[in-house]
Order: sequence, then structure tokens, then C-alpha cells
Amino acid sequence: MNLMESWIFFVLLRVVGLDIGTALMFHNMESVTNVMEYEILAKERLPKMIYDYYASGAEDQWTLQENRNAFSKILFRPRILVDVSNIDTTTSVLGYKISMPIMVAPTAMQKMAHPEGECATARATSAAGTIMTLSSWGTSSVEEVASTGPGIRFFQLYVYKDRNVVMQLVKRAERAGFKAIALTVDTPRLGRREADIKNRFVLPPNLSLKNFEGLDLGKIDKTDDSGLASYVAGQVDQSLSWKDVKWLQTITHLPILLKGVLTAEDV
Ligand SMILES: *[C@@H]1O[C@H](CO)[C@@H](O)[C@H](O)[C@H]1NC(C)=O
Repeated sequence: MNLMESWIFFVLLRVVGLDIGTALMFHNMESVTNVMEYEILAKERLPKMIYDYYASGAEDQWTLQENRNAFSKILFRPRILVDVSNIDTTTSVLGYKISMPIMVAPTAMQKMAHPEGECATARATSAAGTIMTLSSWGTSSVEEVASTGPGIRFFQLYVYKDRNVVMQLVKRAERAGFKAIALTVDTPRLGRREADIKNRFVLPPNLSLKNFEGLDLGKIDKTDDSGLASYVAGQVDQSLSWKDVKWLQTITHLPILLKGVLTAEDV
């Protein structure tokens, strides 16, 4: 595995619910034989506050454990004596052809782990022939990610109380060539991330939430508990409902995906 492949693999793991921090920049890939090793390596290399942010879930981490269990129960039923000398794993999402039925999920603040952060993920995702969804809370902006080169990209959106902020952000994502808006619908309140509270989590001062920098909302700083929890409570709109999805449709021509649908009833 080269560095790029390893990086994308790490991000893909996030997709399947294995939250593994990373410190790939420091590591000699040759000695890694199992992806779970990245978690150990990351723990050795990343400052505790950062490692814990990537590695931990909310409250008793019950859902994190449930997710791992659920994914571990998905089994393949390999059929025998089928000619597999040529295989085709391509599929399509919203009409875009991708190389495999796996995409890169939005994960926030990637530059805490690597100076190239989301831009490296964007290049790796393109090289792998699949779709990246950039987090609203990237430490690289929509424009920076777009400038890394061609690639199909979606933009994950948190709806802030200030709808002007949302409007500007959606327009910028459109202009930067993003192909869909993935609206997060399961975070009216942030889960109680206890490790972040213990660590008094803040975004390191040399980083910012690049998409919000010009709007004076780019910093996650000093706090009595978790800086992220305070930030979310202050900015993210807890009143978000179906009428806001309709509103979003009036301000963008991009397809809107709902991220975080948790019940069949809501589907
Ligand atoms: C931010 O500062 C930390 C600590 O000095 C450093 O390790 C990291 O590479 C810096 N990140 C960026 C993106 O410049």
C-alpha cells in the first residue's frame, strides 16, 4: 500500500464504523500488515486530545460498539466455481460511476492528523475512482479541496442558526463543483463526547474550520468542557425539521441527501 492508498483506506474504515486515528505521515507502510495497526500507531504518535477526538464516540460509546458488532455480522456467501479472473466492482451513485461500492464519508478536522488533511483525502479518493464527501468542519475549504484536481465530491452540511451562513456555504460548494449536498439530520445536539469533555477539546490554534473562516466561525477554542460541544450548542440549529429540507431545495439546484436517517419510518 502506498501512502495515498493507506490514507483512503483509513477514511474508508471510518465509513464502516471503525474509528481509527491516523499518523500515516510518520510511518513506514511496509511494516503494516493489518489496518487495525493504524489505531495503535496513531495512539503512539498523536497528542492525546487529537487521538481521542478521532477514536472516541459519545457517552458510554455504546453506539460505537453496536456499530462494530453490526458490521461484523455482515457476512459474505462466496459462491464456488465462478470465474473470477476478471471482476467488475463498479457501480453508480446519483448517476456518477465509481470504481467500487464504497465512498469516503465526511470526517471533520483532518489536518489535526496530517498537514495536508482533506486535500490529501480528496486526491486519494479521486485516484481510487470514488466519491469523497467533505465535512462542513473540514480544516480545508471547499475551494481548496476543489483545487486539488478533478473528482466527484459531495458536501456535508450542518444547518447553522444563521441561515445566511448556510446560504453562502451552499453557494460556495456549488461554485466549487460539488455535486450534492449531504444534509446532516441526526445532530440537532452533539452526542456527549466524554473524552472531548475530559480533554477540554479545542481545535489547535494553527488550524481553523476553513469553510467558516471568513464568517468569524472558524475557531473552536477555549472552553470549560468540550470546545466542540459549546460550538455546536451555539451555532447548530436544533429546530431543524422537514420544512428546512424544503427551504434548502429552494436555495440549491444540487441533489440533497439526508445523512443520518436512523429508522425505516423516516425513510
Ligand atoms: C499545527 O501545529 C502542530 C504543532 O506545532 C504541527 O505538528 C502541525 O503540523 C501543524 N499543522 C499544520 C496543518 O500546519
